[in-house]
Amino acid sequence: MKDLFDKIYKDKGPLGKWASQAEGYYVFPKLEGVISNRMKFRGKEVITWSINDYLGLANHPEIRQVDADAAAQYGAAYPMGARMMSGHTTMHEKLQDELADFVGKEAAYLANFGYQAMVSAIDALVNKNDVIVYDIDAHACIIDGVRLHMGKRFTYQHNDVESLEKNIERAVKICEVTGGGILVISEGVFGMRGEQGKLKEIVALKKKYNFRFLVDDAHGFGTMGKTGAGTGEEQGVQDGIDVYFATFAKSMAGIGAFFAADQDIIDYLKYNMRSQMFAKSLPMQFVIGGLKRLEMLRTMPELKDKLWKNVNALQNGLRQRGFNIGNTNTCVTPVFLNGSIPEAMALVNDLRENYGIFCSIVVYPVIPKGLILLRLIPTTVHTLEDISETLSAFSSIREKLENGTYKRLSEAVAAKMEA
Ligand SMILES: Cc1ncc(COP(=O)(O)O)c(C=O)c1O
Repeated sequence: MKDLFDKIYKDKGPLGKWASQAEGYYVFPKLEGVISNRMKFRGKEVITWSINDYLGLANHPEIRQVDADAAAQYGAAYPMGARMMSGHTTMHEKLQDELADFVGKEAAYLANFGYQAMVSAIDALVNKNDVIVYDIDAHACIIDGVRLHMGKRFTYQHNDVESLEKNIERAVKICEVTGGGILVISEGVFGMRGEQGKLKEIVALKKKYNFRFLVDDAHGFGTMGKTGAGTGEEQGVQDGIDVYFATFAKSMAGIGAFFAADQDIIDYLKYNMRSQMFAKSLPMQFVIGGLKRLEMLRTMPELKDKLWKNVNALQNGLRQRGFNIGNTNTCVTPVFLNGSIPEAMALVNDLRENYGIFCSIVVYPVIPKGLILLRLIPTTVHTLEDISETLSAFSSIREKLENGTYKRLSEAVAAKMEA
């Protein structure tokens, strides 16, 4: 009989196999210093474009003070236990009420981590007779939630309403036999390429088909819509979203997440989301910190205005220079270049070491072979100087990519490794 770990020694997994070449640099890099537009990477200052602190709250002095005071008063542990058992407080309820009010829903429920919460919400909302129809580019937490589903599930082509409709029709046929219902899931903002989900079109389909709609608005909450209430508000269809979800890991610069929906649905989720029923409640520090962040989001529209000034300056600058930034209509700013994985590695190395620019890099198999995606996340705390430095660096690296510099560099590195 084989030892369970044999396969692990042989195969580190699709990402783990790159560890020896990539760890500490391309993956698991250490960004040091306070969270800001400029931080330190391997001792050198870099402009940081990879932090989802959209509204610049992570290091805002008022937030830092409230976080510190809450930690001093309650420590990091309080309340202990799961919400249902011993981890519930009036402050948790207060934050829920304020969040529900802010996103225009009857009720809300807090969760300790977005990822687990989404997995469990999907698990709770469907049974084996139901059918899930979800966007093929959905975030891992949605995919993992769907994995728990015992019934049928269909993906539709990314943001393709025709494909969605076809799959809803397939789902309807199945539900007619099983007696189940349909759950459609989209992201509000797709975090990799920055496209908004087609929420308006999806909600319009409710006139024709009977389904419920769950939206993961991780990147939209705080950044989209007139008041920052998210992509549903932006597209004028918040009422058509049956279950609205957002994490605190982005605009709220914290930890935690919430669902917002009709009271009955929230009451149901509260008693049926296993990752929340059987795991520790969100600590007070994050609840009190969450209340302060929400207050700032509500009362300081200038934070979002400045964010969007930066988004527009960056995206317009890239477009003017002829860069392909896909179909983004949100803050997430992808830059698509043509090149191989070794070229991408040489390019990112050059960007970090010689231009002081730190951004995320995405390659095959996440995107098609031959494409390099550099993902920039503008925030409120970026400056026009950061943007103009970045734009000229990007023009320069594109020229080097096109004239073969990175190809030669990567071949030289490969030859050295073989020798
Ligand atoms: C679209 C999306 N959903 C869910 C999550 C998970 O949220 P959390 O970090 O709170 O677990 C993320 C990442 O933070 C995300 O980008």
